Amino acid sequence: MVRYLTGFQPTGALHIGNYFGALRPAIELQEKGEAFYFIADYHALTTIRDPAVLRELVRGVAIDSLACGLDPSKACFFRQSDVPAVTELAWILSNVTPMGLLERSHSYKDKLSHGIPSSHALFAYPVLMAADILLYDSDVVPVGKDQKQHLEITRDIAIKFNELYGKVFKLPEPNIREDVATILGLDGQKMSKSYGNTIELFLPENALRKKVMSIVTDSTPVQAPKDPAKSAIFSLYRLFATPDMLASMERDFLLGGVGYGAFKKKLFAVIWDSFAPMRQRRAELEADPGHVDRILADGALRARTTAQQTMAKVRRAVGVTP
Ligand code: TYM
Repeated sequence: MVRYLTGFQPTGALHIGNYFGALRPAIELQEKGEAFYFIADYHALTTIRDPAVLRELVRGVAIDSLACGLDPSKACFFRQSDVPAVTELAWILSNVTPMGLLERSHSYKDKLSHGIPSSHALFAYPVLMAADILLYDSDVVPVGKDQKQHLEITRDIAIKFNELYGKVFKLPEPNIREDVATILGLDGQKMSKSYGNTIELFLPENALRKKVMSIVTDSTPVQAPKDPAKSAIFSLYRLFATPDMLASMERDFLLGGVGYGAFKKKLFAVIWDSFAPMRQRRAELEADPGHVDRILADGALRARTTAQQTMAKVRRAVGVTP
């Protein structure tokens, strides 16, 4: 049976980029194999320094994911820190990770350039991610394109470990869906918490409207034709609209006569409507915090069992058991 694994950092509420790039694919895959999905709270320590905030964010991401359809009866859903063995594995893997591999990390350089404080953990971030993936013997990792290099680093680390100690790890494959590999944010760059350009899935109606209306546009006059390929509005609309709705908006772009404000209103309406059923489920989950706690506790138990099996092999292989 194929084993799928992916993780979400609780650095904020889940946004449209997380949903289309990874959460929705992961939810589809939970039907097709064995799934391990987790909330990467150890990773979030690289940016979140307030314990109460971190706890709240973890709960929020858990509720968001469940509301979107992550099904704990199909997927093992857990909090990364409930399986502390992952940090032990990260330490062991650090020893077979060349500095150069981490120095080439785009994500590290990108985070520094966006003002995230440099730390050993930020630098070693991909090693912890490799540990997440290898600890659970994962075959396939559904992620957005921004995680591609992290998957390559994971494979490099696994190859190096296997060469040294014998074949312990499988080599995981990324699953990146080309059509949703990079979802654009309000400013037309990749949607990302660290760029401040996100649209969260469960904003209240007015806040969502405000965000959508703030999408950056060029100064093409209302009457003039506009290029849908250059518009963040159009690229987001594509994710939600039916083919007919999309064709109609494309026509209006190309013909001119419709302003960006009108396109934004359509985008807002389709986002708001699409998430209506999930909003309903979210409200129910929020009203029952004990239920969410039990799901995560149950997931932790299952995840720990698998982790223990891998760690027994790893410890034996490297010689840290008698
Ligand atoms: P994170 O929390 O930044 O994002 C979670 C998932 O959402 C995807 N994503 C996007 N996809 C398309 N377009 C976007 N604009 C966009 N923004 C985010 C990400 O690619 C990711 O799949 N390092 C990971 C968390 C992690 C992990 C793991 C993932 C920790 N350990 C092990 C997989 C396996 C991260 O920061 O994702």
